Amino acid sequence: MKKYLVITMGCKLNENDSEKLCGMIEEMGYKQTENLEECDLVVFNTCCVRENAEERLFGKIGELKNIKEKRGTIIAIGGCMTQQKHIQEKIKKSYHYVDLVFGTHTLNKFREDLKRIEEENKKIRDVIDINGEVIEGLPIKRSDKYKASVTIMYGCNNFCTYCIVPYVRGRERSRKKEDILAEIKELAENGYKEITLLGQNVNSYDGGDNYKFSNLLYDVCKIEGIEIVRFISPHPKDFTDDVIKAIKENKKISRIIHLPLQSGSSNILKKMNRKYTKEQYLKLAEKMKKEIPDIVFSTDIIVGFPEETEEDFEHTLDVVRKINYEQIYMFIYSRRVGTVADKMENQIPEEIKHQRFERLKVLYDSKVSENNQKYIGKIEKILVDGTSKNNDNMLTGRNDTNKVIVFEGSKDLIGKIIKVKITEEHKWYLKGEI
Ligand code: 5AD
Ligand code: SF4
Repeated sequence: MKKYLVITMGCKLNENDSEKLCGMIEEMGYKQTENLEECDLVVFNTCCVRENAEERLFGKIGELKNIKEKRGTIIAIGGCMTQQKHIQEKIKKSYHYVDLVFGTHTLNKFREDLKRIEEENKKIRDVIDINGEVIEGLPIKRSDKYKASVTIMYGCNNFCTYCIVPYVRGRERSRKKEDILAEIKELAENGYKEITLLGQNVNSYDGGDNYKFSNLLYDVCKIEGIEIVRFISPHPKDFTDDVIKAIKENKKISRIIHLPLQSGSSNILKKMNRKYTKEQYLKLAEKMKKEIPDIVFSTDIIVGFPEETEEDFEHTLDVVRKINYEQIYMFIYSRRVGTVADKMENQIPEEIKHQRFERLKVLYDSKVSENNQKYIGKIEKILVDGTSKNNDNMLTGRNDTNKVIVFEGSKDLIGKIIKVKITEEHKWYLKGEI
């Protein structure tokens, strides 16, 4: 049997695309392996949102050249990076032995492209720069048995000035609500308990006929068997009252809400084209907390955006002090070719960016333990994921606010929703008892 490996970089949307790639590849008779040496097909599903993942990618492709010479391994590169002209040119110039280059809008043609390579030994370049259609019905090989991600919309219209996504993923296209709900019903019938709705900007989901994200939340929560509903990422500007009400009225919706801040300075937010101010963001968080008292937040923050002054950065720290984030994904601003921010003057020196990053991290770390304390003695509902990596007698799961919880228990609890009392806090996990 031919063997394959899909290497995924980047976000949950890419992971979900990789599950579809794996589904298509297995349908064509390949079996998954972790060992590059025995691969007949290697697919890179790339990301270009931050940093130079390029070096890593091209290093790996260089490594594969020998294996290809020995085995005739087919090499395919797809995802966000290949949508960029300079990457296409680099592959053409230095990595001509790559068999297939596909983009974000041609994922659905993967089987066709692979078949032509197998039969005709052709090199295929299949990247198009349009807003690809929403394609339904691709086979999918899910990486988890109890939790599943479901993409509800593709692309982004926001053009935050630092972000490459709108250029490589195109404009917003929502899936039909019937297709989304049918997919989730099928997942529930197959024993899935937790669903994460995915999109670059989930709360601008548009199902037509005034069917909005909040309507979708109600309908997903009605599906029997689904116990936990999460969604990423919403945009603060689209966090309308109907969405808050939907969360409040549906207990299945996770009480940790991702609310990307990016910067706490209204001045920088304007330059980022985020369409909200520091005050509006704080007000929104306050309103949500008032409506749903057990709600907590996670966020994304970028430090060192062009022209960010010490005072701007202090505003970011101020928001972090005011909102006790449960989790912060921190990023150092990284220049992306083709974006507005890349052309801005006054780019921040690397050293200052790193210093600010460290300062934010110190503040965040000091808050983690303080935040964790509030769980001690509480009884948490969790979906049991599996056994702990370090100890086979211990089980792990995540509670409603996505905290990792470790506890003793028998393996037949895996996949079940149970209650655990929290006894100890450790920085990155909580310990509990059934
Ligand atoms: N530099 C640093 N971080 C970025 N992000 C997006 N683009 C950039 C960039 N150019 C971050 C944002 C976004 C998350 C997915 O990645 O915080 O919310
Ligand atoms: Fe990028 Fe902004 Fe769109 Fe998110 S909302 S994908 S940060 S442009």
